[in-house]
Amino acid sequence: MRFENVAFSYEPNRKILKGISFEVPAGKTVAVVGPSGAGKSTISRLLFRFYDLSGGRILIDGQDIAKVTQKSLREVIGMVPQDTVLFNDTIRYNIRYGRWEATNEEVEHAASLAQIDSLIRMAPKGYDTEVGERGLKLSGGEKQRVAIARTILKTPPILVLDEATSALDSHTEREIQDALERVSKGRTTLVIAHRLSTIVSADEIIVLEQGTIVERGTHSQLLAAKGLYESMWNRQREAEEAREKLARAGEDDAAPNRNPPAVDDAITTAAAAEPFEAPVDAAE
Ligand SMILES: Nc1ncnc2c1ncn2[C@@H]1O[C@H](COP(=O)(O)OP(=O)(O)OP(=O)(O)O)[C@@H](O)[C@H]1O
Ligand SMILES: [Mg+2]
Repeated sequence: MRFENVAFSYEPNRKILKGISFEVPAGKTVAVVGPSGAGKSTISRLLFRFYDLSGGRILIDGQDIAKVTQKSLREVIGMVPQDTVLFNDTIRYNIRYGRWEATNEEVEHAASLAQIDSLIRMAPKGYDTEVGERGLKLSGGEKQRVAIARTILKTPPILVLDEATSALDSHTEREIQDALERVSKGRTTLVIAHRLSTIVSADEIIVLEQGTIVERGTHSQLLAAKGLYESMWNRQREAEEAREKLARAGEDDAAPNRNPPAVDDAITTAAAAEPFEAPVDAAE
């Protein structure tokens, strides 16, 4: 998958992507990171052809995606968006959407890989549990795991993962991360990451800032470069340490009224706001 000098604007006088080029070689994982509003999710929307480019090309297997049908494009790409929208139907229906002809066993296997089967077992109606309007009756983490199960069932050659930014507890986050790692193994994967700790092993990391690639390389190369990536990394490290301290303090019954220290995690906080997330097609 290759981006060649891709430029894009949602509105005429504000450039969002200013001519970016990168490649995700077959079977490799490339991560895109950067401040909130940099244009990361926009990249995934363009790949799915929710919008047309204002310049450049996106190629998959050497073919310009503007010249293939949207249907065939969406068949090869599995997308786990930042904010999953589910159909107002059962959990089973929502997972099976990934591949209609899948058997119940296949649906259940996908659910267990996405680590949502224990939740389903606890629900009185199991797989026939209704998820509600847009998935309202599930938590953010549960919804995302349904989307992951759907993608596992689809087994697309190309994966696009836009990490959840909602405040997941660290246990759920770990589970989702494990599920995502399992799906992406051996697949051409573009991952948009907010928690840098999840992408340290990516083949290449692209740092996007205001629609421009400002740094690129492996995790260790970027740390050595001491630029934006390194400062984001350090900030997240500090925030994580503060959270751990907070958790330890929480266990300390002797100090029940202790005020939590302020956590300076600008990236996560800002990203959680996500004011313009498009109502991404529930299909993906
Ligand atoms: N539909 C839209 N119309 C107009 N502007 C938009 C639209 N969607 C996004 N934008 C703007 O484009 C910029 C890039 O948005 P994008 O969603 O790609 O950011 P992001 O890097 O994914 O941020 P985050 O880390 O918060 O998810 C933002 O400044 C946003 O305000
Ligand atoms: Mg985003």
